[in-house]
Amino acid sequence: MKKILISIVAIASIAVLPLAAQAQTSQTWNEKSAELTKVLETKGDPERGAAAFVPCQGCHRSDAMGKSSGAYPRLAGQHASVLLKQMTDIRSGLRNNPKMEEYVEDHLAKPENMADIAAYVSALPIVEDKVGRGPGTAIQAGKTLFERDCVQCHGNNGEGDAQKFYPMVAAQHYRYLLRELHYIRDGDRGNSNPDMVKVVKPYREADLEALADYMSSLPPPKK
Ligand code: HEC
Ligand code: HEC
Repeated sequence: MKKILISIVAIASIAVLPLAAQAQTSQTWNEKSAELTKVLETKGDPERGAAAFVPCQGCHRSDAMGKSSGAYPRLAGQHASVLLKQMTDIRSGLRNNPKMEEYVEDHLAKPENMADIAAYVSALPIVEDKVGRGPGTAIQAGKTLFERDCVQCHGNNGEGDAQKFYPMVAAQHYRYLLRELHYIRDGDRGNSNPDMVKVVKPYREADLEALADYMSSLPPPKK
């Protein structure tokens, strides 16, 4: 009897584990959270978005270009759907992002705010000379790997795919890209697409650096 009780308790606690702690599979990755479904249905207003984005500027800067050091990613020109997925994942804790925690609670609690910000930020221009580039020594090696393992999702020019929530990785800061590749490979990002984790896992340090060098060197793609 005691054993049965323990297993019932164990099953019940698995069921209430936050999504972040559950292993994702290719199937679950594509399931939209209720919140993401809601924000995707909410029509964003870029003018309201400009005002709602003010609290974010301390880190992501007023033009949403982030920092070339890679401490903060460029958001300008990113697909609205990607921004929304990442915001809701950060909010739910699925994606690890401790630096942003208090801001998402205070400023992104309403779906309208997220929709407005995504509408505003996704339409901002990508300022090329503010993109933090890599050393430039491994661009060719990175291109070879990217064309083998990444283009099927991120596109030939790193443009991503708005429909499928695949981020634009071209013209993103080198150090941010490299950090994310480590997080993805080592399982620290939280929300990584499992099919991507499979291709990134076997990479050595030099491969990750080459990939980041290549992606940061790509010009802003036409959407
Ligand atoms: C205190 C600094 C800080 C503030 C303020 C902040 N962010 Fe962030 N944000 C970050 C950091 C750091 C990351 C990248 C985390 C990582 O390294 O994975 C990030 C990532 C993001 C991403 C994911 C980008 C991508 O390419 O995946 C989005 C979207 C985002 N922030 C939106 C916002 C919005 C909207 C606000 C305002 C409500 C905001 N942030 C305020 C620090 C901040
Ligand atoms: C099966 C599709 C798929 C493949 C293959 C794939 N990715 Fe991704 N990638 C994604 C998705 C989806 C995300 C957004 C994170 C998430 O929500 O899972 C992402 C995120 C990223 C990010 C973070 C971008 C940001 O703005 O935070 C980087 C960097 C990245 N991928 C690089 C790569 C590289 C390099 C390869 C090849 C070695 C690759 N990806 C292969 C789907 C893919």
